[in-house]
Amino acid sequence: MGNTVQPLLEEYQIGDLKLKNRVIMASLTRGRATNPGLVPTPLMARYYAQRASAGLILSEGTWVSEKSIGFINVPGIFTREQVEGWKLVTNAVHEKGGLIFSQLGHIGAASHPDFFHGELPAGPSAINPQTHSYTPEGFKETVTPREFTVAEIKQTIQDYQQAANNAKEAGFDGIEIHAQAGMLIPQFLSLATNQRSDEYGGSIENRARIIFEILDAILEVWESTRVAIKFTPVAYSHVGIVTPDEETIPMFQYILKKLNDYNLAYLHIVGPAEDLTGTPVTVLQQDYFSHFRHHYSGRLMANLGFTQESGNAILQEGTADLVSFGAAFIANPDLAARFRYNLPLSEMNRDTLYSGEENGYTDYPAAIAE
Ligand SMILES: Cc1cc2nc3c(=O)[nH]c(=O)nc-3n(C[C@H](O)[C@H](O)[C@H](O)COP(=O)(O)O)c2cc1C
Repeated sequence: MGNTVQPLLEEYQIGDLKLKNRVIMASLTRGRATNPGLVPTPLMARYYAQRASAGLILSEGTWVSEKSIGFINVPGIFTREQVEGWKLVTNAVHEKGGLIFSQLGHIGAASHPDFFHGELPAGPSAINPQTHSYTPEGFKETVTPREFTVAEIKQTIQDYQQAANNAKEAGFDGIEIHAQAGMLIPQFLSLATNQRSDEYGGSIENRARIIFEILDAILEVWESTRVAIKFTPVAYSHVGIVTPDEETIPMFQYILKKLNDYNLAYLHIVGPAEDLTGTPVTVLQQDYFSHFRHHYSGRLMANLGFTQESGNAILQEGTADLVSFGAAFIANPDLAARFRYNLPLSEMNRDTLYSGEENGYTDYPAAIAE
């Protein structure tokens, strides 16, 4: 790129937050909360602080309640100890001049009885999502869950609100709702996993209801410009039966139209990992992010497979306002500096993605010593 201007390195304002660049660190589950209380550790604080030169860090997906768990050694934000642990993380990031949002998640039907003393996990309907859960004994196939009662749905919404409140106390700068493939929210949106006949199932409006109820609950605690959502109308093949269906396009158009009234921090959209030809969302194949630009009037963060070049290009074109990088941040803690000086990127070690304590976690060096 030589000395050409890089939009990725420009400052960006979201409400009262000033991001020092538009290189965003996407959420990365790393399985380092290796203690029974799922409490964030000093090692995690060090890892996040190493990445504080990102314009904004999105924390790893974090459990909103005991019942939301479904992957080993992932931290929560529902106990006092967890909130104290997160304070170590937010303080460490802020000391380095960074910003960090808490990504709040619930895995719903894609959990496993091993996390609940043999009891079934719950989801929108008693339908096996046919995916895998990473249990203490390794990856296991999911089972047919219990159907949530309406009271449990209301409780789940309360859990999100409490977690958002805890995130504020823990010193986070905002919230990102984890509505990515594999999680509870897309299980509600999907025709395959939601066959409820009450106000949370059936029509598009009913299946999308939980998103807005969670959002409204969080907005009682946070300013709208500190709250974001990450989701995708496409899905990876490994997420079982929650894949695009014939109502995915109208579903997303409905959601985006409604979100236009919310003035959120941003909408974080994950792109397709696979060719969409022949799927119910083939229409998204061309100019994927333009579809969101067209239907959504707020700030847009683009994700999946971006490089320095394609990230700068999408910002230059004006199709997105921010670009997030996931995998690249694993082995390149100083990703923004590498873009600034056109330095090569380091390769990550896949064996230590979800385990290994400091190995393959905090031992990837910056390219330029601080
Ligand atoms: C090891 C790993 C863990 C991830 N954990 C999460 C997560 O907790 N929450 C989430 O929304 N996405 C998660 N993702 C997805 C990334 O945030 C991102 O959407 C994806 O990697 C695509 O971006 P990339 O091509 O820049 O890596 C994870 C990805 C990886 C590689």
